Amino acid sequence: MTYLTWSNDLAVGNSFIDGDHQKLIDMVNRLHVLMSEGKGKDVLGKVLHNLITYTKEHFRREEDLMRKISFPGLADHKAEHEKLLAQVLELQAKFESGAATLSIQVLHFLRDWLINHIGKSDKELALATHDMAH
Ligand code: FE2
Repeated sequence: MTYLTWSNDLAVGNSFIDGDHQKLIDMVNRLHVLMSEGKGKDVLGKVLHNLITYTKEHFRREEDLMRKISFPGLADHKAEHEKLLAQVLELQAKFESGAATLSIQVLHFLRDWLINHIGKSDKELALATHDMAH
């Protein structure tokens, strides 16, 4: 069973942001599949690394957009990205050092992190891009 399913509830209505989010969801799902298959640290570590790299690029793209439209919530949204990234990097460090394994709790964390951030902050940003267009 797919761990996370894309649905219209998750769409913020901005095509590049939605595309990025779908890719992030695919990556979390891939991690879930590999974990369920009992793949080792090397494989999981690589996927986690790719997920973090993609997340950084995605955050940068959103922040560029916010600057472009002089989004008033930029500072708060950026701070939220930085906090999320710090949490994931901490997870990665624990995983790489062997202090922690990738567990279903880690996946739940990634899921909640994505869903909460998309549902609130990214929706506000997408809404602001619509206002600009009108
Ligand atoms: Fe965001």
